[in-house]
Amino acid sequence: MFETVTPPEPDKIIRLMGMFAADARTDKVDLGVGVYRSPAGTTPVMEAVKKAEHRIWAAQESKTYVGLRGDLGFLDAMRRLILGESVPADRVAGAGTPGGTGAVRQVLETVHRLNPQATVWISDPTWPNHPAIIDHLGQKRRSYRYYDATTGGIDRAGMMADLAGAGRGDLILLHGCCHNPTGADLLPDDWQEIAALCARTGAIPFVDMAYQGFGAGLEADAAGVRLLATALPEVLIAASCSKNFGLYRERVGTVLIVTEAKAAAEGVLAGMNRQNFAFPPDHGARVVQEILGDEALGALWRGELEGMRRAMEGNRRALAVALRAATGSDRFGFLAAHRGMFSLIGATPAQVDRLREDHGIYLVGDGRMNVAGLTPETIPRVARALAEVLA
Ligand code: LMR
Repeated sequence: MFETVTPPEPDKIIRLMGMFAADARTDKVDLGVGVYRSPAGTTPVMEAVKKAEHRIWAAQESKTYVGLRGDLGFLDAMRRLILGESVPADRVAGAGTPGGTGAVRQVLETVHRLNPQATVWISDPTWPNHPAIIDHLGQKRRSYRYYDATTGGIDRAGMMADLAGAGRGDLILLHGCCHNPTGADLLPDDWQEIAALCARTGAIPFVDMAYQGFGAGLEADAAGVRLLATALPEVLIAASCSKNFGLYRERVGTVLIVTEAKAAAEGVLAGMNRQNFAFPPDHGARVVQEILGDEALGALWRGELEGMRRAMEGNRRALAVALRAATGSDRFGFLAAHRGMFSLIGATPAQVDRLREDHGIYLVGDGRMNVAGLTPETIPRVARALAEVLA
């Protein structure tokens, strides 16, 4: 069956992971895939996670199935974390999924089944797996203007003009915070305007929340999605615990749907899980539930998360300063204003190749840099290389 098949090309992030692993240079610098690294260059298991795992190990007596939507306690904890008090619990349906990607997939497939005519509007640019999943499902998609490379900010007028073309039932895919790949986030006024547009047109916001706590802080990062939840009858959310709990390989994600038809939505989500993978993974979800349900563990986790956020902010500032010194200009000043792990630094694909080949510095082909991959040791070298290659 497979003899004549050409396997699909891995996307640019996955391809880069392979290239980095195959590079024998010992001083190579990985600024590619979105994984947090400490100033020591490692991705340790968070202490709160370790403690929660110990407790689970000691107390858990069975690994039998939980439920098609996963553990209800986990879903409730995720609802509180993301939506706070913005909407009552009886207006939020939820289901566990394998990671944030699983949640994105479940939301899109659900919408495709219920409304095959819906167009999904994605920001230009966006995470490459968004269009890949949409295309795989055979959904219609359109791009809306988002990033303005000349300012390093958002093209607000272009975005709102494009989104005015979204019709009733269309999905508008938004990054809840820490926009991937640009690092340029929507401001409260933007969320307000988008809420008003959705109320007017009947388009439905779909918020991908993969980095809560990495931008301006846990609460501030959720302000946009909470505003939508308060203002609109229906909001779709895909959330990930990969980054903020460091649970990458455990695959912990959640679909949340703000709706007046909670029971029906939960039935649909349970059916969708059953057909795609039956029961969502439990271990990582249980770790999250343990942490969020315990005051001391929760405080420890919040502290660790805030430490990661500050370290990334520190990397941004240090790189911006080093680049100002290396280039004698403020050209890269936007780096310090961006939020989260990523920034588009304005390199062409050829410049990205040169950074990799001549300097061992790995960026995604569109010029996306993971600032969490920088360390105090590598920042001067990266700044010099960027100044030289992007001159
Ligand atoms: C990224 O954008 O690098 C991360 O979200 C990892 C991934 O799955 O692509």
